[in-house]
Amino acid sequence: MTIPPDTELGAYLLQRKVDPDLASLVESIAASATVVADHLKEAAFQNHIGSAGTTNIQGEDQKLLDVLADRVFRETCGDATSLAAYVSEEAEEVTWLKAPAAGDLILYVDPLDGSSNLEVNLSVGSIFAVSQVQADGDTNVLRKGRDYLCAGYAIYGPSTLFVITFGLGVVGFTLDPSDGQFKLTNAQMRVPPETNEFAVNSSRQRFWDEPIRRYVDECLAGSAGPRGQDFNMRWTASMVADVHRILTRGGVFLYPADESNRRAGGKLRLMYEANPMAFLIEAAGGAASTGTEDILRIQPQAHHQRVSVLLGSSNEIERLVQLHQIHPSQEKIGS
Ligand code: AHG
Ligand code: MN
Ligand code: MN
Repeated sequence: MTIPPDTELGAYLLQRKVDPDLASLVESIAASATVVADHLKEAAFQNHIGSAGTTNIQGEDQKLLDVLADRVFRETCGDATSLAAYVSEEAEEVTWLKAPAAGDLILYVDPLDGSSNLEVNLSVGSIFAVSQVQADGDTNVLRKGRDYLCAGYAIYGPSTLFVITFGLGVVGFTLDPSDGQFKLTNAQMRVPPETNEFAVNSSRQRFWDEPIRRYVDECLAGSAGPRGQDFNMRWTASMVADVHRILTRGGVFLYPADESNRRAGGKLRLMYEANPMAFLIEAAGGAASTGTEDILRIQPQAHHQRVSVLLGSSNEIERLVQLHQIHPSQEKIGS
């Protein structure tokens, strides 16, 4: 017989002695996720499936649910008294909610990740991270991932989970539909150093640099190749779902800068996609790199900056970094 989980998110934050302002923001983020989960369930009946007919700062089509999820996070978290700035994938500018004072909080959000999966009813998620204003009047939101106070995601799948780290250890809470509470179900999420599973969008193969090409070739060669073991491949097109799988059973996720996206820096966004996931993966014992640099050490130059992302089981990231040292990127600029 299994014992039902009884530690709710609020009790966990108290027990972990999380600063009350930060704890209150985390509870607002979790509350936003439950509202987004409800919107997703009702979308077909509310005419919320499909495009909003607008594009975001990235030039990507916004889905109605991207816009709705952004509004939910902005409004729900905007009530947290210590929140000074809201940085979202869906908004060109940083939203300032108050005059920043030292210690105030900055929230980075990808309100709906994997939104190309909405029409096909596959898992999507919300990614978040929190950092801190350094001094009274300081409007610089460009903090390194290393300096984040916490990071996590909600995944909307067969069940809704809220996964979070404050830098040491990663925990997961499952939304209990019977009372609407997030309950601790995954007390210690770890990324094993070894894996035989990789995730990459291989339709981009012709654009890859030599190190990525070599790494994937070695995986595909399996037990007959230099790695001497067979590999499995999974790609969901929702980073949240791929990272959740890696935090559950290990693996490696690659969205490298390549010949066609290098001019933009890569595809995934540093401050609200790559850094939160790198922060989680490292807190769970894994590693995250661009191939040549630790993601969490990058000094952001812009809040919508994109970056090359390789993260997951540490032995695989080590192999990828090694390959980048053997075959330095030719820095070919895409046309
Ligand atoms: P978003 O829906 O927030 O724009 O993010 C989508 C991202 C990420 O979740 C996923 O890993 C990747 O884009 C999928 O890219 P491809 O379409 O190239 O597979
Ligand atoms: Mn995303
Ligand atoms: Mn998104």
